[in-house]
Amino acid sequence: MSELADKTALVTGGTSGIGLAVVRRFVAEGAHVVVTGRNPEKLAAVADEFGDAVTTVRGDVASLTELDAVFAAIAERGAGLDVVFANAGGGEFAAIEEITWQHFTDTFEANVGGTVFTVQKALPLLNKGASIVLTSSNIDVKGSPSFSVYAASKAAIRSFARSWAAELVDRGIRVNSIAPGPIATPGLSGLAAEPEQAEALLGGLAAGVPMRRLGTPEEIADAVLFLASPRSSYVTGSELYVDGGASQI
Ligand SMILES: NC(=O)c1ccc[n+]([C@@H]2O[C@H](COP(=O)([O-])OP(=O)(O)OC[C@H]3O[C@@H](n4cnc5c(N)ncnc54)[C@H](OP(=O)(O)O)[C@@H]3O)[C@@H](O)[C@H]2O)c1
Repeated sequence: MSELADKTALVTGGTSGIGLAVVRRFVAEGAHVVVTGRNPEKLAAVADEFGDAVTTVRGDVASLTELDAVFAAIAERGAGLDVVFANAGGGEFAAIEEITWQHFTDTFEANVGGTVFTVQKALPLLNKGASIVLTSSNIDVKGSPSFSVYAASKAAIRSFARSWAAELVDRGIRVNSIAPGPIATPGLSGLAAEPEQAEALLGGLAAGVPMRRLGTPEEIADAVLFLASPRSSYVTGSELYVDGGASQI
């Protein structure tokens, strides 16, 4: 039995890494998936791979105008939304002395503002029983040198999941967040200052995980599917850590 048969899902940042793995999983479970991202070539690759199972819409989550275009396309389909996976975002390293206003606003506009307004604009389209999954990080409960702005942005996401779960519970809408540890994606490798430093960075991150390895985007997709589907029908306001134990043991 397909877990998301006849459902419509939105995946922001669905053209790479975790988002792309979630698109693949949702399509395999029978959903129609609206996929966003900024790069038109990456969106075209998703359209080629999944055909009629997806609708691709270009949109920067840090732009209210572009978000409006995304939700206009969803409204035009006429099926509403059953799942929102607010995933678009990212970060860069900066020690406290190196934080610039631009670094701060870029991180918060995409990770926090992008999530706030994705969810706000989705509300009129949400079907009864809809599930919203926000993308935090296991760094939301840990201190990490040179990553404080990113960590704070993800702690904000964890907080929003709690408040919005409270606000939307009477509409029968669940809100949860997912907290990945280090996951092997282009976004994680891209944190290295130079491509040749990526291997050392990823090796160091893996060594810090109790399971001694990076997670895969598919392992996150399985957890997101659980939160998106009725299998998690009694779960709201919570955060699911998928991090090889890194934040817990
Ligand atoms: N990988 C990890 O270890 C890890 C751990 C914890 C949390 N996370 C979180 O998981 C999410 C996905 O990360 P990832 O590692 O899969 O990164 P990724 O491989 O870089 O993929 C990021 C996706 O988001 C899109 N995107 C980025 N900024 C966007 C924006 N402003 N508006 C719309 N789309 C945007 C990208 O497409 P375009 O570039 O074309 O826009 C791409 O599709 C992020 O929120 C990240 O913070 C990742």
